[in-house]
Amino acid sequence: MKKLLPARMGLHGSLLVPGDKSISHRAVMLGAISEGETEISHFLTGEDCETTIKAFQALGVRIEQAGTNVRVEGQGLANLKAPAQPLSMGNSGTTTRLIMGILAGSSFSTTLIGDQSLQRRPMRRVSEPLKEFGGEVQLTADGTLPATIIGHQLHGAKYEMKVASAQVKSALIFAALQAKQSSIIVEKLPTRNHTEIMLHQFGAHIRTVDNKVIIVDPGEKLVGQEVTVPGDMSSAAFFLVAATIVPHSKVTLKGVNLNPTRTGIIDILQQMGAKLSIEEQFSTGEPSGDITVENSALRPIHLTDEDIPAVIDELPLVALLAACSDGQSTIRGAQELRVKETDRIKTVVAELRKLGVQVKELPDGMVIDGRPSWDIQDPQLDSYGDHRLGMMDAIAALKADQPLQLAHEDAVAVSYPGFFADLATLLGGAHHDNGLN
Ligand code: S3P
Repeated sequence: MKKLLPARMGLHGSLLVPGDKSISHRAVMLGAISEGETEISHFLTGEDCETTIKAFQALGVRIEQAGTNVRVEGQGLANLKAPAQPLSMGNSGTTTRLIMGILAGSSFSTTLIGDQSLQRRPMRRVSEPLKEFGGEVQLTADGTLPATIIGHQLHGAKYEMKVASAQVKSALIFAALQAKQSSIIVEKLPTRNHTEIMLHQFGAHIRTVDNKVIIVDPGEKLVGQEVTVPGDMSSAAFFLVAATIVPHSKVTLKGVNLNPTRTGIIDILQQMGAKLSIEEQFSTGEPSGDITVENSALRPIHLTDEDIPAVIDELPLVALLAACSDGQSTIRGAQELRVKETDRIKTVVAELRKLGVQVKELPDGMVIDGRPSWDIQDPQLDSYGDHRLGMMDAIAALKADQPLQLAHEDAVAVSYPGFFADLATLLGGAHHDNGLN
């Protein structure tokens, strides 16, 4: 149980947030299936990305890690080895879904297992489309883990996606890379495109037309690269929101990934009236830059399906922003939240109600009545084992007028092991000196 204290003096200073989770996973995966060495810097050392490293080590890839530096000795796509035991996916949906696409074209069978949360998450969204490429993944009757991937020679396909999911898209791209013919994957809505950008860097023939049609021509040799992982927008977002809602705050988040498929939270903050400025750095691959934000009054917001993919992991924070705004906000078209690490519609609603915020649960989102200060109903907050919920609770508590408690705070280590330390840095000495921490 962690004690959470109000931030009476605000948040100040600057911070380099940890590396992007999605890009860290992909750097290890692409390094493993390429030829030659891949050197990764500013790798995210959270539990999910460690799961990816361990999985590829178990598949016979030499990977050395020294903190945020990782060296991968690529094996080439065809040379992964059958693992001695089932591969443990821990809490990581990204590792699970992407690796299914990689192993679908292998010459062996692999079983994937996961923790309680991952075992509840839907996997047919990957196994069904993989069939179109000649892939075979056996799941439980509920369509969940454990999964057994039976490797086959794959063929090209044209597939129109049924869900807006970068994880599913990436799995299909990995399958397409191993197929005998070209493939076309049509997205339902554009989602994060880190796989496409990085594959291009590693030498694959992949292109995107009209923002959502991905064409993969297999057969090109993938060659190991140097990858510097930019800061994770989804981690920076906690402090961007904290500085916006807590009086007297002004913070700068440095080196944050500004890929437009990930900057939904920036657009939303700006639409709600946040005082925010961005200094973009020059880069050839993934764009990044420094973001400065300060406390400001907020207007309500209304989101629909097209808004969701670029802010999918930040929606708990959008709900929190809405709870601090001066009117009623709506989040719709966000049914994907129900199948994240927790049912994030249910868990966000539960946590906001504890704070005294009026929220209506909808099948695909929520209606939130914003108010300048809350009337705490229950000081016992809970992450429910979901990293992003735990961090949202910790940020919400900064604005409360009394100390709160957070159960299952360890969950933050899934994506941001240094979260509480970084928060303490931005809260500064004053927070400690007043005995508030
Ligand atoms: C991810 C894609 C998103 C996101 C997840 C990471 C990725 O999931 O929620 O945290 O790295 O591709 P979906 O694409 O399934 O929505």
